Amino acid sequence: MSDFVVVTGADELSDPGKMVVEIDDRFVILCKVAGEFYCIDDVCTHDGGTFGEGELCEHAISCPRHGAKFDIRTGQALTMPATEPTVAHKVKVVDGQVFVMLVDQ
Ligand code: FES
Repeated sequence: MSDFVVVTGADELSDPGKMVVEIDDRFVILCKVAGEFYCIDDVCTHDGGTFGEGELCEHAISCPRHGAKFDIRTGQALTMPATEPTVAHKVKVVDGQVFVMLVDQ
Protein backbone atom coordinates (compact mmCIF):
# COMPACT_ATOMS: atom_id res chain seq x y z
CA MET A 1 0.00 0.00 0.00
CA SER A 2 1.34 3.44 -0.91
CA ASP A 3 0.86 6.79 0.79
CA PHE A 4 -1.90 9.25 0.07
CA VAL A 5 -1.08 11.46 -2.91
CA VAL A 6 -2.93 14.56 -4.02
CA VAL A 7 -4.72 14.07 -7.33
CA THR A 8 -6.88 17.16 -7.83
CA GLY A 9 -8.80 19.93 -6.14
CA ALA A 10 -12.18 19.02 -4.69
CA ASP A 11 -13.83 21.69 -6.82
CA GLU A 12 -12.22 20.49 -10.05
CA LEU A 13 -14.79 17.74 -10.53
CA SER A 14 -18.44 18.33 -11.29
CA ASP A 15 -20.96 16.52 -9.10
CA PRO A 16 -21.64 13.92 -10.28
CA GLY A 17 -18.39 13.65 -12.18
CA LYS A 18 -15.36 11.48 -12.86
CA MET A 19 -11.81 11.75 -14.06
CA VAL A 20 -9.08 9.27 -14.90
CA VAL A 21 -5.90 9.73 -12.88
CA GLU A 22 -2.51 8.05 -13.18
CA ILE A 23 -0.75 7.25 -9.91
CA ASP A 24 2.52 5.30 -9.90
CA ASP A 25 1.90 4.00 -13.45
CA ARG A 26 -1.57 2.79 -12.46
CA PHE A 27 -4.74 4.24 -13.94
CA VAL A 28 -7.64 4.80 -11.57
CA ILE A 29 -10.92 6.63 -11.92
CA LEU A 30 -11.88 9.23 -9.35
CA CYS A 31 -15.62 9.81 -8.99
CA LYS A 32 -17.59 12.46 -7.14
CA VAL A 33 -21.19 11.76 -6.15
CA ALA A 34 -23.27 13.85 -3.75
CA GLY A 35 -20.17 15.60 -2.47
CA GLU A 36 -18.26 12.38 -1.71
CA PHE A 37 -15.25 11.04 -3.58
CA TYR A 38 -14.57 7.44 -4.55
CA CYS A 39 -11.78 5.80 -6.50
CA ILE A 40 -11.51 2.43 -8.22
CA ASP A 41 -9.07 0.87 -10.66
CA ASP A 42 -9.79 1.99 -14.20
CA VAL A 43 -9.94 -1.65 -15.24
CA CYS A 44 -13.06 -3.69 -15.84
CA THR A 45 -12.58 -7.22 -14.59
CA HIS A 46 -14.58 -8.68 -17.46
CA ASP A 47 -12.07 -8.00 -20.22
CA GLY A 48 -9.95 -5.01 -19.28
CA GLY A 49 -12.24 -2.20 -20.43
CA THR A 50 -11.76 1.27 -18.98
CA PHE A 51 -14.38 3.43 -17.32
CA GLY A 52 -13.37 6.84 -18.63
CA GLU A 53 -16.14 6.83 -21.23
CA GLY A 54 -18.54 4.90 -19.01
CA GLU A 55 -21.74 6.28 -17.56
CA LEU A 56 -21.84 7.21 -13.90
CA CYS A 57 -25.29 6.75 -12.37
CA GLU A 58 -25.48 7.38 -8.63
CA HIS A 59 -22.87 4.98 -7.17
CA ALA A 60 -22.62 2.73 -10.23
CA ILE A 61 -20.29 3.16 -13.17
CA SER A 62 -20.69 1.19 -16.37
CA CYS A 63 -18.01 -0.24 -18.57
CA PRO A 64 -18.52 1.09 -22.11
CA ARG A 65 -17.36 -2.15 -23.73
CA HIS A 66 -20.06 -4.63 -22.70
CA GLY A 67 -22.06 -2.76 -20.09
CA ALA A 68 -21.01 -4.32 -16.78
CA LYS A 69 -21.64 -2.04 -13.82
CA PHE A 70 -19.46 -1.62 -10.73
CA ASP A 71 -20.09 0.01 -7.37
CA ILE A 72 -17.65 2.91 -7.08
CA ARG A 73 -17.77 2.65 -3.26
CA THR A 74 -16.55 -0.93 -3.07
CA GLY A 75 -15.43 -2.01 -6.54
CA GLN A 76 -18.01 -4.79 -6.50
CA ALA A 77 -19.30 -6.01 -9.85
CA LEU A 78 -23.03 -5.30 -9.93
CA THR A 79 -24.04 -6.74 -13.29
CA MET A 80 -22.90 -9.27 -15.85
CA PRO A 81 -20.77 -9.90 -17.75
CA ALA A 82 -18.37 -8.94 -14.94
CA THR A 83 -18.34 -11.20 -11.90
CA GLU A 84 -15.15 -10.19 -10.10
CA PRO A 85 -14.68 -6.90 -8.22
CA THR A 86 -12.23 -4.26 -9.30
CA VAL A 87 -10.00 -2.60 -6.68
CA ALA A 88 -11.40 0.24 -4.58
CA HIS A 89 -8.82 2.74 -3.32
CA LYS A 90 -8.84 4.97 -0.26
CA VAL A 91 -9.80 8.63 -0.71
CA LYS A 92 -9.73 11.61 1.61
CA VAL A 93 -10.23 15.34 1.22
CA VAL A 94 -8.00 17.73 3.16
CA ASP A 95 -8.07 21.50 2.77
CA GLY A 96 -9.93 21.26 -0.52
CA GLN A 97 -7.50 18.76 -2.03
CA VAL A 98 -8.42 15.19 -2.94
CA PHE A 99 -5.93 12.51 -1.92
CA VAL A 100 -5.89 8.88 -3.04
CA MET A 101 -4.03 5.97 -1.47
CA LEU A 102 -3.64 3.00 -3.78
CA VAL A 103 -4.69 -0.36 -2.41
CA ASP A 104 -2.82 -3.29 -3.89
CA GLN A 105 -5.78 -5.64 -4.16
S1 FES B 1 -14.69 -5.32 -20.72
FE1 FES B 1 -16.04 -4.34 -19.32
S2 FES B 1 -17.94 -5.34 -19.62
FE2 FES B 1 -16.58 -6.35 -20.97
